Amino acid sequence: MLSKTMQDAFSEQIRNEFSSAYLYLSMALYFERQSLPGFAKWMRVQFAEEQAHALKMLDYVVDRGETVTLSAIEKPFADFKSATDVFERTLAHERKVTSLIHNLYALAAKENDYASTEMLQWFIKEQVEEEKNASLILDQLKMVGDKGSSLVMLDHRIGKRGE
Ligand code: FEO
Repeated sequence: MLSKTMQDAFSEQIRNEFSSAYLYLSMALYFERQSLPGFAKWMRVQFAEEQAHALKMLDYVVDRGETVTLSAIEKPFADFKSATDVFERTLAHERKVTSLIHNLYALAAKENDYASTEMLQWFIKEQVEEEKNASLILDQLKMVGDKGSSLVMLDHRIGKRGE
């Protein structure tokens, strides 16, 4: 079993993960409109990863004999200005998610919920990867700029994600 506090906190984080998925789908659609299929594909992989994060957490709650309250997710931001703008938002978003995961971990520790702290270690490590990936692409975008043949080449390479 899980305490009511932990059940509510996990339900909220599951909502956040689905909300992240929706944001990345919005970013994928932006890149489709910009004729940057590689970046669009990267964002579609990210969309799938966020859904997997949500389901991983949901399965854990179910394994503990509890249920999840699903709640509404907000309309995702869509007014992106450039590829660099998208990845600045991606990095900021992942940093925010990292702090949410850390808060959840701190709550589990306060509740002496050792199984939850152990499970959340996976998410803590995953956030290191998430921030690293977004930061690397942002740095590369700053090097190549938001238009021209270098951006097309970077798009081609970014599109290899998941192959
Ligand atoms: Fe589920 Fe991108 O963190």
